[in-house]
Amino acid sequence: MSGNTATLTIGDKAIELPTKSGSVGPTVVDIAPLYKHTGMFTYDPGFTSTASCESQITYIDGDEGVLLYRGYPIEQLAEHGDFLETCYLLLYGELPTAAQKADFDYRVTRHTMVHEQMARFFQGFRRDAHPMAVMVASVGALSAFYHDSTDISDPHQRMISSMRLIAKMPTLAAMAYKYTIGQPFVYPQNNLDYPSNFLRMCFSVPCEDYKPNPILARALDRIFILHADHEQNASTSTVRLAGSSGANPFACIAAGIACLWGPAHGGANEAALKMLQEIGTVDRIPQYIAKAKDKNDPFRLMGFGHRVYKNYDPRAKIMQRTTHEVLNELGHKDDPLLEVALELERIALHDEYFIEKKLYPNIDFYSGITLKAMGFPTSMFTVLFALARTVGWIAQWKEMIEDPSQKIGRPRQLYTGAARRDYVSPAQRR
Ligand code: ACO
Repeated sequence: MSGNTATLTIGDKAIELPTKSGSVGPTVVDIAPLYKHTGMFTYDPGFTSTASCESQITYIDGDEGVLLYRGYPIEQLAEHGDFLETCYLLLYGELPTAAQKADFDYRVTRHTMVHEQMARFFQGFRRDAHPMAVMVASVGALSAFYHDSTDISDPHQRMISSMRLIAKMPTLAAMAYKYTIGQPFVYPQNNLDYPSNFLRMCFSVPCEDYKPNPILARALDRIFILHADHEQNASTSTVRLAGSSGANPFACIAAGIACLWGPAHGGANEAALKMLQEIGTVDRIPQYIAKAKDKNDPFRLMGFGHRVYKNYDPRAKIMQRTTHEVLNELGHKDDPLLEVALELERIALHDEYFIEKKLYPNIDFYSGITLKAMGFPTSMFTVLFALARTVGWIAQWKEMIEDPSQKIGRPRQLYTGAARRDYVSPAQRR
């Protein structure tokens, strides 16, 4: 690589490829002209060396354990701000003034109700449906209810659908939960802040007064901030790819929710908690560490490792503190799961296998214990992740639609199937 170009030599042919530098982070080689000049594609399953887009939203330095939203460190946002402020920042690019924040909060709050017919849509699900199945379907179904904000070429409609998604996700998530436990849906209440309103919609019943606990509300708000965006992860890339065809934002976010459901992505907090429960006591940890290290055993320590972070996930540090605050508040500070988690973390951080492979606890390692202590069943963990990530998905979707160089996403492939062959009639096949 020299100056603003990189030279690629294939056989006796050399081609100059342009390079591009970001504001921070590694330089990229622009391989778009490669096929035109060489008739070759690049091959990068899992996109481990490929930037799929240009973005100004989130920056991660996985080696240093840094996460910035629009340039602001996650630690500062989680310590000093609230989730709706983070939503504003991700959507508009700047922190809001006091007046902008008050207006934004007001607008989100006024969009929290869902069309009354959505309640009947929910009745079609089995009671034991996984709430993520309900979320995929109900968020996709919003496109059937809000036709007036699905014209993606209209900036006003794009912003309205973004606000609707941020505002309605807690309502739908709480409805998905209430439906599975057979309790009546609870309408949003506009005098409550975003996390308190969500806690009330999940945990109140019409026959009793409910007062959201401010410490739990603050902890939940911080969990939402930590999960709000994470640049081009699998679900965000899914949203961008779905959106690149011009699909409406509700359908694109439903696609993101489907991708998030998998245990290697958003489902990992559920898997991490199940693993801690299965381990049960500190004395059983060594056998699980041995299983994780055994090449012939597919078992992995859930909540450890990350595609990008090869250092301590900065979100996991904040999450660990939040876990302690919640367990103290609820009087669970001697929770055996926390004891197992802390000891597992201590052992893994000192074990050669985990050190060499740079496997650190990720955010999911602690979030499961915290959400369980708050009263959420494990099946809701990924739903809460989806709720928080909606703003990241929608900010990335908007950025893509507003990028004049945007094209339909269409990866190429290395074909290794049969070469051309002729059809053989059934009687002649062997
Ligand atoms: N436990 C034990 N070994 C592990 C673990 C783990 N959790 N994670 C990775 N390894 C090992 C692999 O076996 C592999 O070993 P090898 O080089 O000897 O073959 C090596 O570390 C690299 O692993 P890859 O799977 O190639 O790493 P990749 O970056 O593709 O995977 C992933 C990242 C999927 C997160 C992986 O670490 C994992 O499965 N972790 C457990 C699930 C989890 O916690 N997911 C949450 C991700 S964070 C999020 O979505 C918010």
